[in-house]
Amino acid sequence: MRKVAIVGAGQVGSTTAMRLAERGMADVALIDIYGELARGKALDISHSLPLTGSSADVVGGSDYGLAAGSDVAVITAGFPRGPGMSRSDLLAKNAAVVREVVEAVKEEAPDCALIMVTNPLDEMSYLAWRITGWDRHRVMGMAGLLDGSRLAYFAASELEVPPGKVLPMVLGSHGDAMLPMARFTSVDGVPLSELVAMERLRELEERTRDGGAEIVALLKTGSAYYAPSACVARMVHAILADEGYQVAASVYLQGEYGLRGVFVGVPVILGHGGWKEVVELDLLPAEREGLTACAGMIKERMDELDEWLEGAGP
Ligand code: APR
Repeated sequence: MRKVAIVGAGQVGSTTAMRLAERGMADVALIDIYGELARGKALDISHSLPLTGSSADVVGGSDYGLAAGSDVAVITAGFPRGPGMSRSDLLAKNAAVVREVVEAVKEEAPDCALIMVTNPLDEMSYLAWRITGWDRHRVMGMAGLLDGSRLAYFAASELEVPPGKVLPMVLGSHGDAMLPMARFTSVDGVPLSELVAMERLRELEERTRDGGAEIVALLKTGSAYYAPSACVARMVHAILADEGYQVAASVYLQGEYGLRGVFVGVPVILGHGGWKEVVELDLLPAEREGLTACAGMIKERMDELDEWLEGAGP
């Protein structure tokens, strides 16, 4: 059986572990700074497996040795956004956590593909990539699939069609500069931009952009985890099954979309070992400008992280 390490046994991490284990997709190592919490959740998930017919091995603890030999590692460790807190506010707080856990994963699972979930997503993906020094194809951030799934849900409700009928496309950053792409979102092959009036479309896009914050405000403590974990599980499956599945994810661009040296959300093809290639959509000049502006904002915060890394010492 393949193996997936999940660091952070909080809401997103444990729900992801449950989804992977229930489907028998992989053995799971759930790791948290609170080892007993991780062990307890791993045990609880394990107790559900006789009912689901899965023989996945689920273990938990604080020891990174549990992650040894993993094919995929998912990083959810960190602090979630509180009400009124932007993803950028989280930058400094979560950088220290990501640095520590990614270094440990690199030791124990030197050949894995890395899926980042900790926010702020694009910046933490960059940090993880820099810390590993790995080929860019092995490191990605889960965001575009989640933002797209939210857009698909809102569009499906609007059009009164099943959610699975909407094939969404959201580019850019996982945050305020998110770029829902109605022209590339389709329902039975018809672009969403042709199915919903412009004004209403803007409202759906706005709700998608604020989708995470809407849930944070309702939950009062913590942030979304059912949809995020479903997205991570989907990406893990695509990697383990070498599916050639297209998702929007945050990856390091080296000239694609005219952008270089920045992590930003674009469509990629997932397969064995990570992402294989960037899919270049034929963007209109205004869409391209939007993506470039968004990449510029992320790049500024990546530069802040570079400074932080240099100051942080060896
Ligand atoms: N090492 C290991 N685990 C850690 C560390 C660390 N240094 N620091 C924090 N953790 C663990 C916490 O103990 C906690 O169990 O990370 C877990 C985070 O879980 P939650 O607080 O429940 O957060 P969650 O909702 O899962 O979100 C995690 O994903 O979507 C993003 O914005 C979200 O950045 C956040 C991350």
